[in-house]
Order: sequence, then C-alpha cells, then structure tokens
Amino acid sequence: MSYADVYRRSIDDPNGFWLEQAQAIDWDTAPTRALFDEGAPIYEWFKDAEVNTCWNAVDRHVAGGRGNQVAIIYDSPVTHTRQEITYAELLERVSSLAGALKAKGIEKGDRVIIYMPMVPQALEAMLACARLGAIHSVVFGGFAARELATRIDDAKPKAIIAASCGIEPGRVVHYKPLLDGAMDMATHKPDFCVIYQREQEVAHLTPGRDVDWHEFQYGIEPAACVPVRGDHPAYILYTSGTTGQPKGVLRATGGHLVALAWTMKNLYNVNPGEVFWSASDVGWVVGHSYIVYAPLLHGATTIVFEGKPVGTPDAGTFWRIIDQNKVVSFFTAPTAFRAIKREDPKGEFLAKYNTSSLRALFLAGERADPDTVIWAQQKLGVPVIDHWWQTETGWAICGNPQGLEPLPVKIGSPSVPMPGYDVQVLDEGGHPVKAGDLGAIAIKLPLPPGTLPNLWNAEARFRKSYLDHFPGYYETGDAGYIDEDGYVYIMARTDDVINVAGHRLSTGAMEEVLASHPDVGECAVIGVADELKGQLPLGFLCLNKGCNRDHAEIVKETVGLVRDKIGPVAAFKLAVVVDRLPKTRSGKILRATMVKIADAEDYKMPATIDDPAILDEIAVALRTIGYANR
Ligand code: COA
Ligand code: AMP
Repeated sequence: MSYADVYRRSIDDPNGFWLEQAQAIDWDTAPTRALFDEGAPIYEWFKDAEVNTCWNAVDRHVAGGRGNQVAIIYDSPVTHTRQEITYAELLERVSSLAGALKAKGIEKGDRVIIYMPMVPQALEAMLACARLGAIHSVVFGGFAARELATRIDDAKPKAIIAASCGIEPGRVVHYKPLLDGAMDMATHKPDFCVIYQREQEVAHLTPGRDVDWHEFQYGIEPAACVPVRGDHPAYILYTSGTTGQPKGVLRATGGHLVALAWTMKNLYNVNPGEVFWSASDVGWVVGHSYIVYAPLLHGATTIVFEGKPVGTPDAGTFWRIIDQNKVVSFFTAPTAFRAIKREDPKGEFLAKYNTSSLRALFLAGERADPDTVIWAQQKLGVPVIDHWWQTETGWAICGNPQGLEPLPVKIGSPSVPMPGYDVQVLDEGGHPVKAGDLGAIAIKLPLPPGTLPNLWNAEARFRKSYLDHFPGYYETGDAGYIDEDGYVYIMARTDDVINVAGHRLSTGAMEEVLASHPDVGECAVIGVADELKGQLPLGFLCLNKGCNRDHAEIVKETVGLVRDKIGPVAAFKLAVVVDRLPKTRSGKILRATMVKIADAEDYKMPATIDDPAILDEIAVALRTIGYANR
C-alpha cells in the first residue's frame, strides 16, 4: 500500500485502521472497538481491551524464541562500560524487580517516580512498573530538587526509584542529595525509595525509608504481568508549559502499544532482531518511546547510551557505536550533529568507522537546520529524515515513512502527516488557510492512538491548553505552513516555550525564578538563536528602585538561582540589567520583538507599543553581551 492510501484510510476509517494495526499486539482481552468518542472532545482508544505492556515488550519475545537475542546494549563511554542484556535476562531482572515492588505494596494504578541516569536499570524500573500496572513518571536527571519535588507533589507516588549518581563529563551528578532535598521540600511523602547504588558513588541510605535495589529483591518471588484496560495510564511525563507548573502528560496503555508498534517498521524501517538506536535520554519522551518501548515491543535491540556526541571521548563516538553494533536506524537531535560537525567538520572521525549498516538517520526535538541536514546527508550517505513530534503526541505527527514508502525529502520540512493526524494550518479565527500561508498548526480531533488523552488530574488545564482555542482541534503550540504537496513546515512556537539543545523549556518558569531574586523587580526571558543549541535563554532584569549593587554580581546570582531551582538543563547563563521592558499599551511584554532585536533580525515596530524608545535601550544592553550586533 502507498503512503497516500494508508493515510487516507486512517482518516476515513480510524476505527477499522487502528483495529487492524492492533493485531501487532498480544491482548489479554482483544479490543472490539478502537475509538471511543462518546466523551468528545476527549477521545479514548482501546478502552474495552485488556493488555500488559511488559508482556508485549519482554515476555512474548522470550516465549516466541528470542530469549537469547540481545534486548539492551548498554554503552557508557563515561564509565568505560559495555554490557549486553538478552531478552531472557531482561525478563528475569524485570520480574524480580516487579516482585520486590509488589512485596512492598505497589499495585495497579500506584504511581512510581523514576529518577535515574542512562543505565539499563532505568528501563528495568519502567518495565517493572508496567508489569504491575503501576504508573511511572520518569524525571530527567538534569532537573534540580525543586523540579523533582513539584512532580512528587503532583503525581503523589507511593515509591521513588533512583540511582545513587549520574555521570556528566567532568562531574558526578549526586542524585541522592537531590532526591533527599526534593523529599524534604515535597508535601507528599512516598512510602519508600529504592536506590540503585552505582560503583562511581555509593549513597547513604536513609534508614526506614530507603531500600537497596539488590537487597530488596533478595529471595523475592518474581511477579507476573497484570493485565490493565486499554485506557489505563501507562505513564505520566511532565513537560514544560507556559508557567512554572509542568504539565503531566498522560499516556494510555492500549493506544501507546498500537501506535508505537506501527512506527517501528513503517516509519523507522526496522525489522525485529535488528539494532535501533535512539541517542536521547529516558527522561524525555523520545527516550520513553524509542529507547524503551517501541524497539522492545518490536523485538529489536535497543541501545542505552550514557555519553555525549562529543567529548566522550571524541566526535567519533556515534560512529563507533553504529559500527560496533550494526545499527540500522539511528535517531537523535540536530543539536548533537551540530556538536559533531563543529568538532569534526571534515568527518575525519567518521572515516575511521564502517557505518554501512545504517539505512537512515532520524532527527527530531527541534527544527533541523538545512546546513546540518546537508552535512549529515553528505557524510553518512543515507537519507536524513526530519520528523516532528511532541511529548504530548508520544510519536511522530509528521515524518517520512521509510519502511512504508520513502517519499522525497524536502530539506526544512519534516515531511507529511503520519496516520491519524489530520494536520491543518489555521488563522487566528480558526479557519484553515491556503497552502503556503503561515498560521497556527492544529490537528483535527480525534488525535490518533498513543497521543495524550488528558493531563494527569488536570482536565480543565488540558482543555484550556489544547482544546479550547480552536474548537474541534488540538492546538500544537507550533506555527508553520503546509506547501502545495502537503509537506508541513514547522517554523516557531506560538507560546513562550523555547527549545535548548533539543530540550523543551519554559521561559515562564525561568521568569518565576528570576522574579524571586530580592533585587529583581521585573524580568523577562526570551530564547535567542544559538549555533550549537538552537536557542539559549536570555534574561532581562529590571532592578528594584534604590538597588545600587553591582550588576554583574546580580546577574551571577540569578544564573546560580536558575541552575539551583530548575537545574543545569535550563542552560541559563545570559542576563542583562535594563531600566525598562518594552510593552504594549495594555502591559504585555513584547518578547517576540526582543528576540528579533537580539538575533539582529529586521522587525516591524509593534503597532501597540507603549514607548518605542525602549527598544533602543534593549539593543544597547544586548550589545554589551554580544547580541543585537548587525
Ligand atoms: N543530568 C544532569 N545534568 C545534565 C544532564 C543529566 N542527565 N544532561 C545535561 N545536563 C547538564 C549538562 O552537564 C550541562 O551542565 P553544565 O552547565 O554544567 O555544562 C547542562 O545540563 C546543559 O546541558 P546541555 O544543554 O545538554 O549541554 P551540554 O553542553 O552538556 O551538551 C550537546 C551539548 C549538544 C552535546 C547535548 O545537548 C546533546 O547531546 N544534546 C542532544 C539532545 C537530545 O538528545 N535531546 C533529546 C530530545 S531528542
Ligand atoms: P518535546 O515535547 O520536548 O518533544 O518538544 C516538542 C516541541 O519541539 C515541538 O512542539 C516543536 O516546537 C519542537 N520540535 C520537535 N520536533 C521538531 C521538528 N522536527 N522540527 C521543528 N520543531 C520540532
């Protein structure tokens, strides 16, 4: 079948199309229907079926003869470790961990927070939760204690599973003190914590609260898979919105399995038994879907990479891993390629390795800039596929289906909508615009299976954030256009979310932290263009009247404050002191204009600006830190 036929069918007959795709999954009770639209605009999928994720990702492969196949390759240049775990070993480890969690009272529906670096135990913890029908919420290691505390209070976990430490180049990330700090800050108190002690740093366990990962599994009876309903939450993953309070994106079990299973062959062109590598982190949605669930569901081999594209030890690490493991399909963020290109523009490291196993490179997480795409195409000699998605959708909204029908690549576009996504570009009034015209990108409801059915305990926020603005549509928060051939182009966010090194961050959250500094009266954070990371946050600080402290000192303190409150991942290192912020007459800060000034781009004077002279003051201040230079 051609892409066009598959896509058309998915839109015309979503129920029939997805029921057919559901055959790739082992159900305890088979679905009789795919789509449940009674609660529209809230839609649900596979609600009358019963299934277990862990069975589909692990047990059934062992039962089907893949027991000796490697399921997980752990490659950690930062600890000089390489380890292979077969499906049979994975089953043993996961059922033992699930048994120990069960013995401590974890049941279907309980929440478990996982705070771990890129080690196979993070995947085992996720799968053990899935085995019991517990709802995991993985928190990225680059977040500070306060962010972890916010998630503890929102998800109200019965347990937290953490590692003693993570390893960043040049420093050890002390997870345990961060965890302890978060536990002190949070109002909700989990029953217990499981600590995986790493050789690099053994943490002190808090008596009566913490248990050792190995010790608590000793002599335990392995747990069996617990079937859950198709609409049962598989996980909660927090993501940045416009405020400091992150949104708890929910993923329902049945649709998650069906959609991910569809993508492995059709989009990524991977066959069971082959090696698929996604160089992300389990703390992000890409890690959930394409380090853990999709490759394992498909009976492929996944790679857990604990390192960076450069510096661990050099810009040849990616090529070594592809060569050594015969990776057929590779997924990373454009920023990683920019880092490699900067260090090794001629591809000298690449020449040392044989990457001929690779069939395609997939990029996502941020806009894939043409220079990087062309460089990667030339150096690797394989199609470079940009694809667009969000934490909310869990899988690609737009892509180029390499296993179904490879379509021509248009550089600058993540290609065409994937099945079930009726992508449209709307004007402010919610009317579709004509091909080539810019507008807000929205998806006509229902969204396909695997996408968020709701936010955790926050339906009003779900409706307000995504459904209310364009009734009958899901508002993506991205702006762009669709060309005459149906190719989608993602140009910018319509909100204050920025994208730093493929990480989604909220400028609103950073502003809240800056505003808490005693000398800061008012502030704004914008995302400015950065050659390596795509965007970087930049803060403007208006000081309280009478404050005559050294500006450099205050800037330094605010940088430290954001690192301390949000975490190093915010990459907040730039700020300037200004007298006033440019605003509209109604008091709205003109952030978009400030971005244009900082990036030295042309801009139109906003008609509603209160005092145009402030824009010159902003430009002068920006020049002192190397921005706004024409
Ligand atoms: N735990 C603790 N700290 C972390 C962390 C983690 N898991 N991940 C990143 N950090 C820290 C970094 O050490 C850095 O700290 P520093 O300010 O002390 O240097 C800070 O957070 C910012 O990290 P990052 O923006 O990632 O920059 P970097 O300089 O460490 O690396 C790249 C730059 C481009 C090499 C890196 O961002 C990269 O590989 N990105 C790929 C992005 C990706 O995979 N995104 C997932 C979506 S597909
Ligand atoms: P996240 O939820 O962290 O995956 O971030 C999702 C956001 O990242 C999207 O809404 C886009 O703004 C941006 N994004 C992700 N993939 C792409 C892409 N291929 N092209 C352009 N922007 C992207």
